[in-house]
Amino acid sequence: MKILKILTPALFFFLGTLAAQPIYDESKVPAYELPDLLTSDGGQSIEDQSDWMDIRRPEILQKFSDFVYGSYPLNIVQTEVSRVDVATEALDGVAIRKQITIHFVHEGDTADMSVLIYLPKADPNPTPIFFGLNFYGNHTIHVDSGIDITDHYVRNNNDLHIFNNRATEGSRGLRAHRWPVELILERGYGLATIYYGDLDPDYDDNFENGIHGILVDQRRRHELAFSGISAWAAGLSVAMDYFETDQDIDHDRVSLLGHSRLGKAALWAGAMDQRFAIVISNNSGCGGAALSRRKYGETVRQINERFPHWFCKRFHNFNDKENELPVDQHMLLALLAPRPVYVASAEDDRWADPRGEYISLVHAGPTYELFGFDVIENHELPATNERRWSGQMGYHIRSGPHDITTWDWEQYLDFADVHLGQRELKR
Ligand code: GCU
Repeated sequence: MKILKILTPALFFFLGTLAAQPIYDESKVPAYELPDLLTSDGGQSIEDQSDWMDIRRPEILQKFSDFVYGSYPLNIVQTEVSRVDVATEALDGVAIRKQITIHFVHEGDTADMSVLIYLPKADPNPTPIFFGLNFYGNHTIHVDSGIDITDHYVRNNNDLHIFNNRATEGSRGLRAHRWPVELILERGYGLATIYYGDLDPDYDDNFENGIHGILVDQRRRHELAFSGISAWAAGLSVAMDYFETDQDIDHDRVSLLGHSRLGKAALWAGAMDQRFAIVISNNSGCGGAALSRRKYGETVRQINERFPHWFCKRFHNFNDKENELPVDQHMLLALLAPRPVYVASAEDDRWADPRGEYISLVHAGPTYELFGFDVIENHELPATNERRWSGQMGYHIRSGPHDITTWDWEQYLDFADVHLGQRELKR
Protein backbone atom coordinates (compact mmCIF):
# COMPACT_ATOMS: atom_id res chain seq x y z
CA MET A 1 0.00 0.00 0.00
CA LYS A 2 2.70 2.38 1.09
CA ILE A 3 4.69 1.67 -1.99
CA LEU A 4 1.59 2.31 -4.15
CA LYS A 5 1.12 5.67 -2.43
CA ILE A 6 4.64 6.63 -3.37
CA LEU A 7 4.53 5.21 -6.88
CA THR A 8 1.16 6.54 -8.02
CA PRO A 9 2.13 10.25 -8.10
CA ALA A 10 5.41 9.30 -9.75
CA LEU A 11 3.51 7.32 -12.37
CA PHE A 12 1.16 10.23 -13.04
CA PHE A 13 4.12 12.58 -13.33
CA PHE A 14 5.78 10.20 -15.77
CA LEU A 15 2.61 9.83 -17.87
CA GLY A 16 2.12 13.58 -17.82
CA THR A 17 5.64 14.13 -19.13
CA LEU A 18 5.02 11.56 -21.85
CA ALA A 19 1.80 13.31 -22.89
CA ALA A 20 3.64 16.62 -23.11
CA GLN A 21 6.31 15.24 -25.44
CA PRO A 22 5.86 16.54 -28.98
CA ILE A 23 5.16 13.99 -31.70
CA TYR A 24 7.95 13.90 -34.27
CA ASP A 25 6.91 10.65 -35.89
CA GLU A 26 4.73 10.91 -38.98
CA SER A 27 3.19 7.50 -38.29
CA LYS A 28 1.83 8.85 -34.97
CA VAL A 29 -0.07 11.73 -36.57
CA PRO A 30 -3.73 11.01 -35.74
CA ALA A 31 -6.39 10.54 -38.40
CA TYR A 32 -8.28 13.80 -38.82
CA GLU A 33 -10.90 15.42 -40.96
CA LEU A 34 -10.52 19.07 -41.91
CA PRO A 35 -13.47 21.46 -41.80
CA ASP A 36 -14.84 21.89 -45.28
CA LEU A 37 -13.63 25.02 -47.02
CA LEU A 38 -16.30 25.14 -49.65
CA THR A 39 -19.52 24.43 -47.77
CA SER A 40 -21.12 27.35 -45.94
CA ASP A 41 -22.32 27.08 -42.35
CA GLY A 42 -25.84 26.86 -43.75
CA GLY A 43 -24.85 23.89 -45.92
CA GLN A 44 -24.62 25.78 -49.21
CA SER A 45 -22.02 24.63 -51.69
CA ILE A 46 -19.58 27.44 -52.53
CA GLU A 47 -19.33 27.37 -56.33
CA ASP A 48 -17.63 30.55 -57.46
CA GLN A 49 -15.66 33.64 -56.50
CA SER A 50 -18.64 35.66 -55.42
CA ASP A 51 -19.99 32.83 -53.21
CA TRP A 52 -16.55 32.75 -51.62
CA MET A 53 -16.19 36.49 -51.17
CA ASP A 54 -19.78 37.18 -50.08
CA ILE A 55 -20.65 34.09 -48.04
CA ARG A 56 -17.83 31.78 -47.03
CA ARG A 57 -14.95 34.22 -46.58
CA PRO A 58 -16.76 36.38 -43.98
CA GLU A 59 -17.91 33.26 -42.11
CA ILE A 60 -14.37 31.88 -41.84
CA LEU A 61 -12.86 35.24 -40.93
CA GLN A 62 -15.36 35.58 -38.11
CA LYS A 63 -14.50 32.12 -36.78
CA PHE A 64 -10.78 32.93 -36.66
CA SER A 65 -11.64 36.12 -34.82
CA ASP A 66 -14.01 34.40 -32.37
CA PHE A 67 -12.01 31.24 -31.65
CA VAL A 68 -8.35 31.79 -32.49
CA TYR A 69 -6.86 35.28 -32.75
CA GLY A 70 -9.48 37.54 -31.22
CA SER A 71 -10.67 40.76 -32.79
CA TYR A 72 -8.62 43.72 -33.88
CA PRO A 73 -8.61 46.26 -31.07
CA LEU A 74 -8.60 49.03 -33.64
CA ASN A 75 -12.08 50.04 -34.64
CA ILE A 76 -12.37 52.40 -31.70
CA VAL A 77 -8.84 53.80 -31.76
CA GLN A 78 -7.72 56.92 -33.57
CA THR A 79 -4.27 56.98 -35.09
CA GLU A 80 -2.12 59.93 -36.05
CA VAL A 81 1.35 60.35 -37.52
CA SER A 82 3.28 62.37 -34.97
CA ARG A 83 6.83 62.38 -36.32
CA VAL A 84 8.42 61.97 -39.73
CA ASP A 85 12.20 61.75 -39.83
CA VAL A 86 13.76 61.48 -43.29
CA ALA A 87 17.42 60.92 -44.16
CA THR A 88 18.12 61.19 -47.88
CA GLU A 89 21.69 59.86 -47.79
CA ALA A 90 21.32 56.69 -45.78
CA LEU A 91 23.40 53.52 -46.23
CA ASP A 92 26.30 55.28 -48.01
CA GLY A 93 23.91 57.27 -50.14
CA VAL A 94 22.01 54.40 -51.75
CA ALA A 95 18.88 54.68 -49.62
CA ILE A 96 16.29 57.02 -48.24
CA ARG A 97 15.57 56.18 -44.61
CA LYS A 98 12.31 57.23 -42.99
CA GLN A 99 11.28 56.80 -39.38
CA ILE A 100 7.60 57.44 -38.85
CA THR A 101 6.07 57.56 -35.39
CA ILE A 102 2.38 56.72 -35.25
CA HIS A 103 0.28 57.41 -32.16
CA PHE A 104 -2.70 55.32 -31.13
CA VAL A 105 -5.17 57.45 -29.19
CA HIS A 106 -8.19 56.37 -27.18
CA GLU A 107 -9.98 58.57 -24.65
CA GLY A 108 -6.85 60.54 -23.89
CA ASP A 109 -4.55 57.51 -23.54
CA THR A 110 -1.86 56.97 -26.14
CA ALA A 111 0.58 54.35 -27.29
CA ASP A 112 3.01 54.65 -30.17
CA MET A 113 4.88 52.63 -32.76
CA SER A 114 7.82 53.51 -34.96
CA VAL A 115 7.94 52.41 -38.60
CA LEU A 116 11.41 52.19 -40.13
CA ILE A 117 11.48 52.40 -43.92
CA TYR A 118 14.33 52.09 -46.42
CA LEU A 119 13.72 52.95 -50.06
CA PRO A 120 16.17 52.62 -52.97
CA LYS A 121 17.27 56.15 -53.75
CA ALA A 122 17.61 55.34 -57.46
CA ASP A 123 13.86 54.82 -57.84
CA PRO A 124 11.97 58.02 -58.65
CA ASN A 125 8.66 56.11 -58.74
CA PRO A 126 6.59 54.87 -55.84
CA THR A 127 8.48 51.75 -54.75
CA PRO A 128 7.01 48.34 -53.90
CA ILE A 129 8.10 47.26 -50.45
CA PHE A 130 8.55 44.22 -48.25
CA PHE A 131 7.10 44.73 -44.83
CA GLY A 132 7.28 42.80 -41.57
CA LEU A 133 7.61 43.00 -37.82
CA ASN A 134 10.94 42.48 -36.05
CA PHE A 135 11.74 40.83 -32.70
CA TYR A 136 14.21 43.09 -30.88
CA GLY A 137 13.81 46.65 -32.13
CA ASN A 138 14.23 48.43 -35.46
CA HIS A 139 17.86 49.23 -34.63
CA THR A 140 18.68 45.49 -34.59
CA ILE A 141 17.90 44.97 -38.30
CA HIS A 142 20.91 46.98 -39.58
CA VAL A 143 24.08 48.58 -38.19
CA ASP A 144 22.95 51.98 -39.55
CA SER A 145 23.70 54.39 -36.67
CA GLY A 146 20.77 56.60 -37.66
CA ILE A 147 18.11 54.12 -36.57
CA ASP A 148 16.45 55.09 -33.29
CA ILE A 149 16.89 52.62 -30.44
CA THR A 150 13.53 51.58 -29.05
CA ASP A 151 12.78 52.66 -25.50
CA HIS A 152 9.96 50.12 -25.21
CA TYR A 153 10.12 46.84 -23.30
CA VAL A 154 12.34 44.26 -25.03
CA ARG A 155 12.68 40.62 -23.99
CA ASN A 156 15.97 40.12 -22.18
CA ASN A 157 18.65 38.53 -24.28
CA ASN A 158 22.19 39.01 -23.07
CA ASP A 159 23.63 38.02 -26.45
CA LEU A 160 21.81 40.97 -27.91
CA HIS A 161 22.86 43.46 -25.21
CA ILE A 162 19.37 43.77 -23.88
CA PHE A 163 19.33 44.09 -20.11
CA ASN A 164 16.51 44.81 -17.69
CA ASN A 165 14.19 44.66 -20.67
CA ARG A 166 15.78 47.68 -22.33
CA ALA A 167 17.80 47.68 -25.55
CA THR A 168 21.29 49.19 -25.56
CA GLU A 169 23.56 50.57 -28.26
CA GLY A 170 25.34 47.21 -28.22
CA SER A 171 22.31 45.56 -29.82
CA ARG A 172 22.48 47.69 -32.97
CA GLY A 173 22.57 45.45 -36.05
CA LEU A 174 22.48 42.21 -34.10
CA ARG A 175 19.64 40.74 -36.16
CA ALA A 176 21.00 42.10 -39.45
CA HIS A 177 21.58 38.58 -40.76
CA ARG A 178 17.80 38.22 -40.97
CA TRP A 179 17.31 41.44 -42.94
CA PRO A 180 19.42 41.69 -46.15
CA VAL A 181 18.55 45.36 -46.62
CA GLU A 182 21.11 46.11 -49.36
CA LEU A 183 20.01 43.07 -51.40
CA ILE A 184 16.36 44.11 -51.12
CA LEU A 185 17.24 47.63 -52.30
CA GLU A 186 19.41 46.34 -55.18
CA ARG A 187 16.49 44.23 -56.33
CA GLY A 188 14.38 47.39 -56.59
CA TYR A 189 12.27 47.01 -53.44
CA GLY A 190 11.99 49.01 -50.28
CA LEU A 191 11.71 47.55 -46.79
CA ALA A 192 9.57 48.61 -43.87
CA THR A 193 9.59 47.15 -40.38
CA ILE A 194 8.13 47.75 -36.92
CA TYR A 195 9.31 46.40 -33.58
CA TYR A 196 6.47 44.10 -32.45
CA GLY A 197 6.89 45.10 -28.81
CA ASP A 198 5.71 48.61 -29.74
CA LEU A 199 2.28 47.06 -30.23
CA ASP A 200 2.17 44.42 -27.55
CA PRO A 201 5.17 43.49 -25.40
CA ASP A 202 5.49 39.75 -25.55
CA TYR A 203 4.58 38.63 -22.04
CA ASP A 204 1.35 37.68 -20.35
CA ASP A 205 -0.13 40.47 -18.25
CA ASN A 206 -3.78 39.99 -19.19
CA PHE A 207 -3.56 42.63 -21.89
CA GLU A 208 -2.64 45.64 -19.80
CA ASN A 209 0.30 46.75 -21.93
CA GLY A 210 0.92 47.89 -25.52
CA ILE A 211 -2.03 49.08 -27.56
CA HIS A 212 -4.31 46.93 -25.40
CA GLY A 213 -3.33 49.12 -22.48
CA ILE A 214 -5.13 52.15 -23.86
CA LEU A 215 -8.35 50.11 -24.17
CA VAL A 216 -8.78 49.05 -20.59
CA ASP A 217 -12.55 49.49 -20.49
CA GLN A 218 -12.90 47.71 -23.77
CA ARG A 219 -10.76 44.93 -22.41
CA ARG A 220 -13.17 44.34 -19.57
CA ARG A 221 -16.08 44.27 -21.93
CA HIS A 222 -14.48 42.15 -24.62
CA GLU A 223 -12.07 40.04 -22.71
CA LEU A 224 -12.53 37.01 -24.89
CA ALA A 225 -11.63 38.94 -27.97
CA PHE A 226 -8.09 40.11 -27.18
CA SER A 227 -4.77 38.60 -28.21
CA GLY A 228 -1.15 39.54 -28.77
CA ILE A 229 -1.25 38.31 -32.36
CA SER A 230 -4.21 40.57 -33.13
CA ALA A 231 -2.38 43.56 -31.65
CA TRP A 232 0.68 42.85 -33.78
CA ALA A 233 -1.49 42.36 -36.87
CA ALA A 234 -3.41 45.54 -36.16
CA GLY A 235 -0.16 47.53 -36.16
CA LEU A 236 0.59 46.21 -39.64
CA SER A 237 -2.75 47.51 -40.89
CA VAL A 238 -2.23 50.91 -39.31
CA ALA A 239 1.16 51.14 -41.04
CA MET A 240 -0.62 50.29 -44.28
CA ASP A 241 -2.89 53.30 -43.74
CA TYR A 242 0.28 55.37 -43.57
CA PHE A 243 1.81 53.74 -46.69
CA GLU A 244 -1.29 54.82 -48.60
CA THR A 245 -0.40 58.43 -47.85
CA ASP A 246 3.32 58.18 -48.68
CA GLN A 247 4.00 59.10 -52.32
CA ASP A 248 7.31 57.23 -52.29
CA ILE A 249 5.66 53.88 -51.52
CA ASP A 250 3.69 51.78 -53.99
CA HIS A 251 1.00 50.74 -51.54
CA ASP A 252 -0.60 48.40 -54.09
CA ARG A 253 2.54 46.30 -54.02
CA VAL A 254 3.28 45.65 -50.37
CA SER A 255 4.56 42.12 -49.66
CA LEU A 256 3.88 41.26 -46.04
CA LEU A 257 6.15 38.70 -44.42
CA GLY A 258 6.89 37.37 -40.97
CA HIS A 259 9.07 34.79 -39.31
CA SER A 260 7.81 32.43 -36.65
CA ARG A 261 5.36 34.10 -34.22
CA LEU A 262 5.57 37.14 -36.48
CA GLY A 263 4.65 34.87 -39.40
CA LYS A 264 1.48 33.97 -37.50
CA ALA A 265 0.78 37.71 -37.16
CA ALA A 266 1.51 38.33 -40.87
CA LEU A 267 -0.96 35.63 -41.93
CA TRP A 268 -3.68 36.99 -39.67
CA ALA A 269 -3.03 40.57 -40.83
CA GLY A 270 -3.10 39.43 -44.47
CA ALA A 271 -6.41 37.65 -43.88
CA MET A 272 -7.99 40.66 -42.17
CA ASP A 273 -6.60 43.30 -44.50
CA GLN A 274 -6.85 42.61 -48.20
CA ARG A 275 -4.65 45.57 -49.11
CA PHE A 276 -1.53 43.44 -48.64
CA ALA A 277 -0.62 42.25 -52.15
CA ILE A 278 1.42 39.17 -51.18
CA VAL A 279 1.62 37.34 -47.86
CA ILE A 280 4.66 35.26 -46.87
CA SER A 281 4.87 32.90 -43.91
CA ASN A 282 8.39 31.94 -42.87
CA ASN A 283 8.45 29.01 -40.42
CA SER A 284 5.21 30.18 -38.78
CA GLY A 285 4.26 26.72 -37.43
CA CYS A 286 1.49 26.11 -34.89
CA GLY A 287 -1.16 28.84 -35.02
CA GLY A 288 0.40 29.99 -38.29
CA ALA A 289 0.48 27.95 -41.48
CA ALA A 290 0.65 24.46 -39.90
CA LEU A 291 -2.49 22.34 -39.53
CA SER A 292 -3.43 22.09 -35.84
CA ARG A 293 -5.18 18.73 -36.25
CA ARG A 294 -1.92 16.95 -37.10
CA LYS A 295 -0.60 17.57 -33.56
CA TYR A 296 2.93 17.15 -34.92
CA GLY A 297 5.58 19.22 -33.12
CA GLU A 298 4.02 22.09 -31.19
CA THR A 299 0.37 21.51 -30.26
CA VAL A 300 -2.47 23.85 -29.36
CA ARG A 301 -2.03 22.94 -25.69
CA GLN A 302 1.71 23.56 -25.73
CA ILE A 303 1.41 26.94 -27.42
CA ASN A 304 -1.42 28.08 -25.14
CA GLU A 305 0.40 27.02 -22.01
CA ARG A 306 3.69 28.69 -22.90
CA PHE A 307 2.22 31.77 -24.54
CA PRO A 308 -1.25 32.31 -23.00
CA HIS A 309 -1.42 35.83 -24.39
CA TRP A 310 -0.84 35.05 -28.08
CA PHE A 311 -4.35 33.83 -28.86
CA CYS A 312 -7.79 34.74 -27.56
CA LYS A 313 -9.08 33.00 -24.46
CA ARG A 314 -11.49 30.77 -26.35
CA PHE A 315 -8.58 29.16 -28.19
CA HIS A 316 -7.57 27.56 -24.89
CA ASN A 317 -10.79 25.51 -24.96
CA PHE A 318 -9.24 23.51 -27.79
CA ASN A 319 -6.22 22.23 -25.85
CA ASP A 320 -6.09 18.51 -26.78
CA LYS A 321 -9.35 19.05 -28.69
CA GLU A 322 -8.03 20.16 -32.05
CA ASN A 323 -10.72 18.18 -33.85
CA GLU A 324 -13.36 20.39 -32.30
CA LEU A 325 -11.87 23.61 -33.67
CA PRO A 326 -14.35 25.16 -36.12
CA VAL A 327 -11.40 26.05 -38.37
CA ASP A 328 -7.97 24.74 -39.23
CA GLN A 329 -5.06 26.71 -40.60
CA HIS A 330 -5.61 25.85 -44.30
CA MET A 331 -8.64 28.11 -43.97
CA LEU A 332 -6.43 30.99 -42.87
CA LEU A 333 -4.32 30.52 -46.02
CA ALA A 334 -7.52 30.37 -48.10
CA LEU A 335 -8.52 33.77 -46.70
CA LEU A 336 -5.54 35.21 -48.58
CA ALA A 337 -7.04 34.19 -51.96
CA PRO A 338 -6.84 35.32 -54.67
CA ARG A 339 -3.61 37.04 -53.65
CA PRO A 340 -0.22 35.30 -53.97
CA VAL A 341 0.78 33.37 -50.86
CA TYR A 342 4.16 31.86 -49.99
CA VAL A 343 4.72 29.31 -47.22
CA ALA A 344 8.27 28.37 -46.26
CA SER A 345 9.59 25.75 -43.84
CA ALA A 346 13.01 24.68 -42.59
CA GLU A 347 14.05 21.04 -42.56
CA ASP A 348 15.29 20.95 -38.95
CA ASP A 349 12.36 23.00 -37.66
CA ARG A 350 10.23 20.00 -36.74
CA TRP A 351 8.61 21.96 -33.90
CA ALA A 352 6.86 24.04 -36.61
CA ASP A 353 5.77 20.90 -38.54
CA PRO A 354 7.07 21.54 -42.08
CA ARG A 355 4.80 18.91 -43.56
CA GLY A 356 1.78 20.40 -41.76
CA GLU A 357 2.67 23.82 -43.18
CA TYR A 358 2.93 22.38 -46.67
CA ILE A 359 -0.23 20.25 -46.59
CA SER A 360 -2.14 23.23 -45.23
CA LEU A 361 -1.22 25.16 -48.38
CA VAL A 362 -2.31 22.23 -50.55
CA HIS A 363 -5.66 22.17 -48.72
CA ALA A 364 -6.17 25.89 -49.37
CA GLY A 365 -6.08 25.06 -53.10
CA PRO A 366 -9.83 24.66 -53.76
CA THR A 367 -10.37 28.32 -52.91
CA TYR A 368 -7.67 29.46 -55.32
CA GLU A 369 -9.23 27.23 -57.98
CA LEU A 370 -12.47 29.16 -57.66
CA PHE A 371 -10.48 32.13 -58.94
CA GLY A 372 -9.18 30.13 -61.90
CA PHE A 373 -5.62 29.63 -60.64
CA ASP A 374 -3.44 26.55 -60.84
CA VAL A 375 -2.60 25.25 -57.37
CA ILE A 376 -0.11 22.97 -55.67
CA GLU A 377 -1.71 19.52 -55.59
CA ASN A 378 1.16 17.14 -54.89
CA HIS A 379 0.87 15.89 -51.30
CA GLU A 380 4.57 15.00 -51.08
CA LEU A 381 6.98 17.69 -49.93
CA PRO A 382 9.31 19.02 -52.63
CA ALA A 383 13.04 18.26 -52.39
CA THR A 384 14.90 20.35 -49.83
CA ASN A 385 16.10 23.70 -51.21
CA GLU A 386 13.94 23.36 -54.33
CA ARG A 387 10.99 25.64 -54.57
CA ARG A 388 7.59 24.48 -55.74
CA TRP A 389 5.45 27.24 -57.24
CA SER A 390 2.12 26.99 -59.01
CA GLY A 391 -0.39 29.71 -59.82
CA GLN A 392 -0.51 32.09 -56.85
CA MET A 393 1.13 29.60 -54.48
CA GLY A 394 4.76 29.24 -53.49
CA TYR A 395 6.48 26.82 -51.13
CA HIS A 396 9.98 25.74 -50.22
CA ILE A 397 11.64 23.77 -47.48
CA ARG A 398 15.17 24.98 -46.78
CA SER A 399 17.89 22.92 -45.15
CA GLY A 400 18.87 24.03 -41.67
CA PRO A 401 17.15 25.33 -38.55
CA HIS A 402 14.27 27.62 -37.65
CA ASP A 403 15.39 30.98 -39.07
CA ILE A 404 14.99 33.36 -41.98
CA THR A 405 18.06 33.40 -44.19
CA THR A 406 19.24 35.36 -47.22
CA TRP A 407 18.39 32.30 -49.32
CA ASP A 408 14.79 32.48 -48.07
CA TRP A 409 14.71 36.18 -48.96
CA GLU A 410 16.01 35.46 -52.45
CA GLN A 411 13.02 33.18 -53.06
CA TYR A 412 10.63 35.87 -51.79
CA LEU A 413 12.23 38.51 -54.00
CA ASP A 414 11.90 36.23 -57.05
CA PHE A 415 8.29 35.44 -56.11
CA ALA A 416 7.48 39.15 -55.82
CA ASP A 417 9.17 39.80 -59.18
CA VAL A 418 6.91 37.22 -60.82
CA HIS A 419 3.70 38.40 -59.19
CA LEU A 420 4.23 42.13 -58.99
CA GLY A 421 6.11 42.59 -62.27
CA GLN A 422 9.00 44.27 -60.54
CA ARG A 423 11.59 43.07 -63.04
CA GLU A 424 10.20 45.30 -65.78
CA LEU A 425 10.66 48.34 -63.58
CA LYS A 426 14.31 47.78 -62.90
CA ARG A 427 16.78 50.09 -64.46
C1 GCU B 1 8.40 29.29 -29.93
C2 GCU B 1 6.95 28.96 -30.17
C3 GCU B 1 6.59 29.00 -31.66
C4 GCU B 1 7.04 30.31 -32.26
C5 GCU B 1 8.50 30.55 -31.95
C6 GCU B 1 9.02 31.93 -32.37
O1 GCU B 1 9.20 28.27 -30.44
O2 GCU B 1 6.69 27.71 -29.61
O3 GCU B 1 5.21 28.86 -31.84
O4 GCU B 1 6.78 30.33 -33.64
O5 GCU B 1 8.71 30.50 -30.55
O6 GCU B 1 8.28 32.86 -32.57
O7 GCU B 1 10.25 32.07 -32.43
